[in-house]
Formats: sequence, structure tokens, C-alpha cells
Amino acid sequence: VSYFPHKNNEMFVENIALSDIAQHVQTPFYCYSSTAIETSFQAYKNAFSSQDALICYAVKANSNQAVLATLAKLGSGADVVSMGEIRRAITAGIPADKIVYSGVAKTEEEIHYALSLGIFQFNVESEPELELISKVATSLNKTAAIAFRINPDVCAQTHAKISTGKAENKFGVPISKARIAYKRAASLPGIKVQGVDVHIGSQLTSLAPFEEAYQRIAELVNELRADGHEISVVDVGGGLGITYLDEIIPSKQSYADLVKAQLGHLNCKIIIEPGRSLLGNAGILVSSVVFIKNGEERQFLILDAGMNDLIRPSMYEAYHQIIAVNKGANELKTYDVVGPVCETGDTFAKARQVHKSDAGDLIAIMSSGAYGSVMSSSYNTRMLAPEVMVKGNEFAIVKKRPSYEEIIKQDIIPSWL
Ligand code: LLP
Repeated sequence: VSYFPHKNNEMFVENIALSDIAQHVQTPFYCYSSTAIETSFQAYKNAFSSQDALICYAVKANSNQAVLATLAKLGSGADVVSMGEIRRAITAGIPADKIVYSGVAKTEEEIHYALSLGIFQFNVESEPELELISKVATSLNKTAAIAFRINPDVCAQTHAKISTGKAENKFGVPISKARIAYKRAASLPGIKVQGVDVHIGSQLTSLAPFEEAYQRIAELVNELRADGHEISVVDVGGGLGITYLDEIIPSKQSYADLVKAQLGHLNCKIIIEPGRSLLGNAGILVSSVVFIKNGEERQFLILDAGMNDLIRPSMYEAYHQIIAVNKGANELKTYDVVGPVCETGDTFAKARQVHKSDAGDLIAIMSSGAYGSVMSSSYNTRMLAPEVMVKGNEFAIVKKRPSYEEIIKQDIIPSWL
């Protein structure tokens, strides 16, 4: 949050007043602090400096080219889950040999594309996927380096919709079936067994679930080696949480120490796939108050940003701090903070204290840098919010708002009309 300080009651992003940006870019818009992104990447890099580790940023958290190029420049790799994300990563300058490819439904076309680029590793989620990768690789006269994503059956103690490492989840190969899967992989012509991968969930606020998962993974690596497989990579996934309100998050250093303690003796290259912990608190959604509405029981702060711009509160009951950009009015008021979309779920917060606001005032929805813009839609034919990046005294529009014409002309009226 400190990259979005208030100075003289006015919110800044690094050295620029948000109100100055808002004069150039109509609300709602996303605003990122480049220095915040760089600093959290550097913190990961320092934390893992004593290990042979590659940070593969989870592109899904925020796939803007400016974000990816910022991270590419610092040496980041990418964890991708689709052809689109591979293309975004490559276009932003992330080299193919730093790309790991996750995802439960990789298609033949996507596998073909990734193989032809020569990515670092496929994180394979099932045996049918393994067979398909081998088939495509053989047809291209290549071998695909793979890790199986192992489902270790641990409880990540996070929101059910973002927990992925329980046996009931669709992700990965059950740890109990891992040895059979690796045996099959070793027998296939297009496959080179290279590593083991695990990702148990997102927004974890404690290290205990990681510890449990990595312990199981370490045991598995020993078993696989005893079976004759050469395991040289462990991908430990992402998942370290961020502070939205008052969550106390283990430091990146303590996380790195845990990885070393649990896996260091294996002498493997470590891949980490952080998303939220790099971007989450590096971005905000800036909105304007359209109306203050005095309901029978509540006061509504009606914003020009809605659930289509930031779906996390509706989808996961997620808490985001909501802060007046101008804190000139010293008085706090209690509002239900809502958007313009025609659904009751279009609510950012209930009974929330915000500085007294008027129509036209700017409001910042904090911690929106990850899983914000990437999950937005144009529901209600609302234009996708533009994105702005600030670095020091400069800002740049890094994604512009589309025009209504551009959006409407994507539809085609059939010839019979
Ligand atoms: N690696 C894999 C294989 C993943 O599935 C994910 C996230 C990550 C890495 C990055 O995890 P992170 O470091 O960001 O926790 N939309 C949800 C979050 C979904 C996370 C999906 N997978 C939200 O807004 O909370």
C-alpha cells in the first residue's frame, strides 16, 4: 500500500497525484506502480539467491505487456496456462526457455506451439495429456521435458474456489498414482522426465500447508529416483498470499527458507510461480462516485466501476480496502459501496467506513493488481477499464479503453437479416 501514499490528504501513485492521471484517463481505470512490482520481484530474487531458483511469474495474475516486460527485464520467466499467455510472454520478451506450461486442458495445437518454441517444461496434469504431448513431440521429432503436477492432497486453508491441492480438486495426478504415471512417461518416445510440480492453492496466509506439501514432494522425488528417474527440477508453484486488510503474511524469505529446508537436499533446480504476491498490492482500481443514494436503511456509494471490472468481491466475497483519493473531508461515513451493474452481487463492500464523499470524487479500490483486470468483462456493454503504469514521476497508458465502435463491430449480423 505504501506505493499509494496520501500526501496532504491526496492519494499518490509513486510521485504522481492520482487526480492528475484521472484528468487524462476517464475512470474507471487500473493503475500500477512499476516500482512496487520491481521491488516485490527483487524481494523474491534476494530470498532465493542461495538456491538455484527460477522465478516464473504466473501470467494469469496480470498479463499486461507492460507488466510482463517489466518482469522480463528483471530476469523473470513465466508460468503460462494457454496459447494466449505463451504469446503474451514471448511478445513481452520472456525467453521460451524460461517458460513453464501449466493447465488441465492443453490442446494439441497449444502443445504443438509450445514444443516448436522450445519451452522449459510442461507441467502435465493427467495421463491422457502425457500421451498427447508424446504424440505431438514425436511427430515434430522432439522430446518434451515434463514434470507431473502432483496433487498432494493437502488442505491449503484458503477460499474453496482457489484451493487446488485436495484430492477432490480437478488438478494434477494423485500422489498415490505418481510412480505409475512416471513409469509410463519414461517409456514414451517423445517424453523426457525432468521434474515434479505442485501447486496447492492461492492466497495462502500460513506456511504450514506448503510445508506439508513439500515434505510429500521430497519423499516422492526420492522414490522416483529410486525407480530410476532423473529428477532435476522441482516446481513449487505459487500461492503466497498478500495483505488485503490485516492478514499477516509470511515473508518471502521465510518462504524461501522453507523451500530450502524441505527440498534443498535434493539438489534440484527450483521453480516458483508467484502471481498475486508480485502484483496484488502493486495495483489499484480507480473509480468515481456517480451518486450517493440514501436508501431506506443504508447509504449507497454508487461507483462507475462494477463487478465487470473487479469480480473478486462478488466471486469470492473478497475484501478490498476502499479509500477516498481525497481525504479532505475528515469525517468518515458508513456506506454500501456498489457498482452500476444490474445485479445485487455488484457490491464491493457492505457497511464500510469511507471518508465522506460526493458525486465526482475519486475512490481507490486497493490490492487490485492481481486477478483484477485479467478477470474483467464487458458485461452490461461496459468498456473494459484501461490500465496505467506509473514509474517515479512518469505515467503511461499501458492499455487503452476500447471505443464503442470497436466493441460493437465484433458482432456480425447474419446475411438472412
Ligand atoms: N501456478 C499455478 C499452477 C496456478 O494455478 C496459480 C494460480 C499460480 C501459480 C499463481 O498463484 P498465486 O501466486 O497468484 O497465488 N482468481 C483468484 C485466484 C486464482 C488462482 C489460480 N491459480 C483470485 O482472484 O483470488
